[in-house]
Amino acid sequence: MNTHFILRGFGRYAPERVMTNADLEKIVDTSDEWITTRTGIKERHIAADDQAASDMAYEAAKVALADAGMDASELTHIVCGTFTPDSMVPSTACRIQEKFGIKGQACVDIAAACSGFVYALETARGYIALNPDSKVLVVTSEVISRRMNWEDRTTCVLFGDAAGAAIVTAGEAGEGPEIKDIRLAADGSLGDLLTVNGGGSRYAYKLGETVGEEFFVQFQGREVFKHAVRNMCGICETVLKDNGMVKADVDVLIPHQANWRIIDAVGRKLEIPAERVFSNVDRYGNTSAASVPVALSEALDTEFVKKGDTVLIPTFGGGFTWAAALIQF
Ligand code: ACO
Repeated sequence: MNTHFILRGFGRYAPERVMTNADLEKIVDTSDEWITTRTGIKERHIAADDQAASDMAYEAAKVALADAGMDASELTHIVCGTFTPDSMVPSTACRIQEKFGIKGQACVDIAAACSGFVYALETARGYIALNPDSKVLVVTSEVISRRMNWEDRTTCVLFGDAAGAAIVTAGEAGEGPEIKDIRLAADGSLGDLLTVNGGGSRYAYKLGETVGEEFFVQFQGREVFKHAVRNMCGICETVLKDNGMVKADVDVLIPHQANWRIIDAVGRKLEIPAERVFSNVDRYGNTSAASVPVALSEALDTEFVKKGDTVLIPTFGGGFTWAAALIQF
């Protein structure tokens, strides 16, 4: 019997504080005009000083559980995608479990940068394939503001903080939005093009040393742009072909919200009309692993995505990693 992987509930959370491009003009030598034309970003949310990834994940997960009509105690697994975890140990997934006051679930973090949500969805499918009784919380949460060099205008204008969540279980066909297929890929030889090296075991630190630039997000924008567009389009074509589908079968495209020019380029190359390409990057910036579930839950709330729609979700991020999910709503 074929297992059907059903998405039972969605949730999102963004911190209260909003930082506009005008606010950034006061911090670094930039302008609303530069940021808007190069990225499409107008504002982003920034976590409070006492908010960590698990705090925001918990808020998004509560919404997803309520949407699914489930209690946290029913969960069997918590899979958290993040590159800005609360700490190296324990995992952010364990911290989320602690916040719910539940015990016993398998808890694991996934490190796939901006592809984290789709990688985490595939992990959930694996657990469910092994045990159809699995009920998996997939949650992604990023506090990128804490890994921003606020003196570097080439990076600090691009990102924002947010969290998104979904519940995945086995079910009957037609019972709810179904994950039809997922493809994952990576090319570690390009890892140095997008890094947060500080804090890792490659680098030795002594007690009392001040942190250097390597503790913050660093990347080569033009290289990222080129590889992002090429690989997101390539993996979308693969997943469509493998499922006997063509580009015209896609009702809605929800790409990773890196910046508007990447989203637009992917939409054009896949020949999906702009009015069927979802973007909220103007209000969130790039929230890495959180961008897809935040976009997905907004697209549902605003009925950009409707029942019956075939939705294609390409992602790309540090590693480099990339992925595509095909979901039937
Ligand atoms: N404000 C004003 N000027 C700026 C800013 C800023 N915030 N940032 C850079 N500039 C200047 C540069 O100093 C440079 O000036 P110069 O010509 O006098 O030297 C000029 O603008 C052009 O800089 P570039 O870096 O070449 O700008 P580019 O057109 O490549 O745009 C951008 C940069 C937006 C980052 C682009 O490369 C891009 O979209 N990259 C992909 C997105 C990305 O890298 N995201 C990172 C996360 S990865 C992911 O999510 C997939």
